[in-house]
Amino acid sequence: MPTATESGDTIEAPGNGRVRLRDRSVFLGKFLKQGVTIGSVTPSSRWMSRELARYVDPSRPQKILELGAGTGVVTRVIEDTMHPESTLVAVEALKDFEPMLRRSTRRTHLIIDRVERVWRELVALGPFDVVVNCLPLPSLPARVRASVLRVVDLGAPNSMYSQLTEFPLLFLPVYKRYFRNVKFVMVPLNIPPGGVYHCTGVRRPSSKLKRARERAARKAARG
Ligand SMILES: C[S@@+](CC[C@H](N)C(=O)[O-])C[C@H]1O[C@@H](n2cnc3c(N)ncnc32)[C@H](O)[C@@H]1O
Repeated sequence: MPTATESGDTIEAPGNGRVRLRDRSVFLGKFLKQGVTIGSVTPSSRWMSRELARYVDPSRPQKILELGAGTGVVTRVIEDTMHPESTLVAVEALKDFEPMLRRSTRRTHLIIDRVERVWRELVALGPFDVVVNCLPLPSLPARVRASVLRVVDLGAPNSMYSQLTEFPLLFLPVYKRYFRNVKFVMVPLNIPPGGVYHCTGVRRPSSKLKRARERAARKAARG
């Protein structure tokens, strides 16, 4: 049972996917200042967190990556589900979320930086069996999207990519361009209602297209 503290926080058993009130208000404050970067008004619900962690397998060791860890609700659900010998790397751009992430996680290798700055480090830590992406892939700047796809591209043959969305099915054609197999699962109880794309078989771009994308990314980086 949750109980209220003097500060108004709820106390919950960690890892159950519930969000502390203070974390929720820090998240909302950041959204009001930096809406596009945060991408959501509130941290994921426990239903969303569990759906994002669907392919985290407690019965075997896996290498797991979470992009856009926020205050750590999904991170903690992954930690509590994963096999004791699994490893979890979580990347979050905003330093303000770091104390909450450190408080809510115990076994996660946290990287507080932007994915487009640390993708080489991530490639070296991979290949990953499960990538949970909480960044909105279709609306990311080309350079950031390219970094995410590079990390996913090096995934193990049966690796699973689970993508958070708050616009159910809207971007299905986009995900079908990036992955051979895409399954969408609706999470109606999330606020706002959203869902998860579970994808396998990342499509490797032809070398011509790859070079064109790299040129576009370099151009975008120069501003
Ligand atoms: C939609 S929120 C999801 C947060 C959390 N995983 C959850 O489900 O509640 C996306 C998170 O990605 C972070 N983010 C945005 N751009 C990023 C980037 N380029 N690199 C790393 N993290 C980023 C934001 O700061 C935000 O915390």
